[in-house]
Amino acid sequence: MTTAKPGRVLVVGGYGAVGALLVDTLRTWPGQPVVVGGRDAARAARLGGVRLDVTDPADFRRTLTELGDVSVVVMCVEPPDAGIARVCFEQGVHLVDVAATRRLLDDIEDLHEAAADTRATGVLSVGVAPGLTNLLALRAHEAVEGAERIDLTVLLGGGERHGADAVRWTVEHLAEPASPAGPARVGLPGHGTRTAHPFPFSDQHTLPRTLGVERVTTRLCLDSRLLTASLFGLRQATRHPTGRRALTASFRRIHLGSDHFAVRADAYRGRAHTAYALTGREQSRVTALVAAYTTRELLTGTLPPGVHHLEQLPTLAHLPETLAAHDVTLHRLRATNPR
Ligand SMILES: NC(=O)c1ccc[n+]([C@@H]2O[C@H](COP(=O)([O-])OP(=O)(O)OC[C@H]3O[C@@H](n4cnc5c(N)ncnc54)[C@H](OP(=O)(O)O)[C@@H]3O)[C@@H](O)[C@H]2O)c1
Repeated sequence: MTTAKPGRVLVVGGYGAVGALLVDTLRTWPGQPVVVGGRDAARAARLGGVRLDVTDPADFRRTLTELGDVSVVVMCVEPPDAGIARVCFEQGVHLVDVAATRRLLDDIEDLHEAAADTRATGVLSVGVAPGLTNLLALRAHEAVEGAERIDLTVLLGGGERHGADAVRWTVEHLAEPASPAGPARVGLPGHGTRTAHPFPFSDQHTLPRTLGVERVTTRLCLDSRLLTASLFGLRQATRHPTGRRALTASFRRIHLGSDHFAVRADAYRGRAHTAYALTGREQSRVTALVAAYTTRELLTGTLPPGVHHLEQLPTLAHLPETLAAHDVTLHRLRATNPR
């Protein structure tokens, strides 16, 4: 049996929008060697990295073996299934994953025993949404002493240059059937009141299990009202591959709005209602920061073996305060006493 050991951090997708910022952050922290991975051998090599493809777990296993001293793999691109996670855990390598797809996260969660067997830790729901939304949900849930319902709202900046994989993910998920919860009008600090639409972020599926809250809904809007209306107005078109391709190409070209983002969590129990929000700039940068702090915590060796979501790890509960050093602001918006 292999066991987790100190070594290098392999950032998969390490020259993408999230990955490159993560690599930059980790490299500013002294004493932490980092390896970059991606499909473009020349690009990876220029950054002192390796070619790898997450659609080929057997090849990934060979790469890990050749590198020899990787202790944490950070996934900054979504693989098609849990094959890469399985390889990491078999080899006693920790995993941090920024993925937002419910099925993928469920499949990795199912590897909890396999990870625990090799003393490896997998951390899921790392980023802004999922990630910071999960931590705000936890706070609001505790403030009302056990929520019956949680509403999460995510506002993304249409002016930010989101990475190709993030745009692909968003457009693909628009094609999923709309949730019966329906749109809601939500106040977001610095952005006024916005109409946000139900969107299949993984957090709303994870939190009922991790917090025991029956009803959780996540809604999305963009800072540009025009782009929000276009995105959700074109929902039908994304059911066909040509529509998805056209919309993906448009969203990669059109940058309307700012690079600001906001997330909000509202928890309800009877007459009690508490809400927290976080605001900042550049969700890719903040996703990278959440992944960096999570990786740093993993390297201390204090996180429990097995697979966990961010909100299940008490030592990471204060990330919203930690991120104040990176111009991310925490707001307590509403507190109606539960009693
Ligand atoms: N949790 C959150 O809040 C959050 C926030 C933002 C993004 N995300 C997720 O993070 C992921 C990355 O987003 P991004 O904006 O950084 O996308 P991106 O800029 O397109 O970066 C993806 C990177 O992965 C590499 N890559 C693509 N396919 C690969 C494969 N099969 N094998 C190995 N490497 C591959 C790409 O380079 P090559 O094409 O050259 O291989 C690129 O370096 C997305 O899945 C997105 O959904 C999560």
